[in-house]
Formats: sequence, structure tokens, C-alpha cells
Amino acid sequence: MINTICVIGAGTMGSGIAQTAAQNGFYTLLFDINAEVLEKAKVAIEKSLQFLVEKQKISAQEKENIFAGIRFVTDTNDCLADIIIEAIVEKVDAKVAIFNQLAEVNHSEVIFATNTSSLSVSKIQSKVQQPQRVVGMHFFNPAQVMKLVEVVKGDQTLDSVAQTVYELCLQLKKTPVMCKDAPGFIVNRVARHYYLEAMKLVENGIATIENVDETMEASGFKMGPFKLMDIIGNDINLTVTQSLYEACDKAERFKPSQLQIDKVAKGELGKKTQKGFYEYNG
Ligand code: NAI
Repeated sequence: MINTICVIGAGTMGSGIAQTAAQNGFYTLLFDINAEVLEKAKVAIEKSLQFLVEKQKISAQEKENIFAGIRFVTDTNDCLADIIIEAIVEKVDAKVAIFNQLAEVNHSEVIFATNTSSLSVSKIQSKVQQPQRVVGMHFFNPAQVMKLVEVVKGDQTLDSVAQTVYELCLQLKKTPVMCKDAPGFIVNRVARHYYLEAMKLVENGIATIENVDETMEASGFKMGPFKLMDIIGNDINLTVTQSLYEACDKAERFKPSQLQIDKVAKGELGKKTQKGFYEYNG
């Protein structure tokens, strides 16, 4: 049974996951190695909860209670929980290291969930002390808003562990989907072509960025591919493509687009840098 959730990494994803956990009544710990990031996460969560108060989704008292339910920590000895959800850098070794470190201080039934978007869960778990207790728990950005969570079973993940995480997602008021470990899982695998084909059209002079976005939106997609890439971040999007390309033996259909490589090289990462495929103010 899960009572306490410890989120590792207080960046974009970690702060949203911690907020989600606290909002649904779990005692929540949010850890980061960088105290400054942790402070920023505190401010972001407070702001996000205040927005919910203004929208009359929660009361001011509820906001206080939710916020009080999160402990912000910088010492791994404080990371004691029933589930560890990591949202740190997208590197196998870093994820393995933090899981093994936390295995030393936690009880033997603790679950290690990784929010990786493109790494192999099986590869991560193969280097962890208790591989059968490692599972993928792939949230989407912004994690406090987006409903979908891909629950990813690695080669050694116990069915009971995947099931517990699936049920936890329901308690977090999310829509979980169970899937096997495969490059890109479901969403990133399918959506890759939404981005890559759109960039090919522009590279080949067949359509403009605006043309593609307007057309896809008019055809029923909620957001055009270029607008979406600017929200995700061109650096993150490119990393996922590169990872899938490698994992699929450099299959031509997953080849990274030169258009996006150039954007990243120029630092035009999207909304977060005020410029990507479009320009943004503020
Ligand atoms: P981010 O860069 O915003 O945050 C990462 C945080 O982890 C930073 O605050 C950093 O200080 C911290 N960190 C790094 N090493 C650490 C360690 N050893 N222990 C504790 N904290 C550590 O990154 P973001 O975007 O939140 O991504 C985190 C993970 O979530 C990555 O694996 C990414 O692939 C995945 N993801 C990202 C999505 C996105 O749209 N940004 C969507 C879904 C998954």
C-alpha cells in the first residue's frame, strides 16, 4: 500500500508530479541535488495551487493543506517512501545510481518508478539492486494537468509492482495505460512521425510551418506539430528522436531532422527560450 511518495528531481516534471501527489492526499517528498531548483519548484507549486484557488477548483484552506503536505528535501537520507518516482536527467547511469543509493535507506518493498521518456526500463532495471521492483511511470508535461501515464513493464518488473503503480495512477486521478518496454513506448513512438513528417514537408519546400500547423488543427488535431514542438522544447524532442533512432537500428523513418538539429544548435529551443519555430513574448 502506498502512503508516501518521494519524487526525485524538482525540475519541470518532478515539481508537477509532486504537486499531483500532494493534491491527491499523499504525503509527498520532493528531492533535488540543487537547492536553487528546489526553491523554484516551491514557488511554482505555490503559484499553480493559487491558480486553482482563483479558478475556484480548491479552497484557500485546501491549498494550504496541499502545500503543507509536501516536504522539500536535499538529503537522500530523508527520501523514505513507499514509492520513489525519479524525474532527473535522461541518463541511464544517473537513474541507476539514485535508485541504488535510495535502496540503501528504504524498506525492501519500495517501488522504483522512472519517468524516463526514451530510455529502456529493462536496461535501467538490469543495473539496479532490486530489478523486479523497477517500473516505468511516464507522465506528460505539465504533469499536474495531463491525464495520461504510461505504466511500463520492463523485462524483470513484477506484475504486482506494475499493478500497484497502475492503481496508484487511478488514485492520482490519472488515466494509466499499461505497456511493454519498447523504444518510445506508445505515445512517443506514434507521435514521432507527427513531428518528423511535418519537418520534412517544410524542409522540402512543400508547405510552410504555419501552413502545416493550421492544416493539422483544422483537420481535428488539438495543436499543430510545430507549436507542440515549441512547447515540449526542441532539445528534449530531438533527444527523444535520437534515442529512438538508435534504439531502432537507425531506421530511416526515425532519422532526426536537420531543421530541428539546427534549431537546437542556435539555442532556439521553443517557448522556454522565447524562440523556436515561432517567437514568443514574456
Ligand atoms: P529538468 O531538467 O527540468 O529537471 C531535472 C532535475 O533533476 C533538475 O532539477 C536537476 O537538478 C535534477 N537532478 C539531476 N540529477 C539529479 C540527481 N542525481 N538527484 C536529484 N536530482 C537530480 O528535466 P525534466 O524535463 O523535468 O525531465 C526529467 C525527466 O523526465 C527526464 O528523464 C525526461 O526525459 C522525463 N520527461 C520529461 C518530459 C518533458 O516534457 N520535459 C515529459 C516526460 C518525461
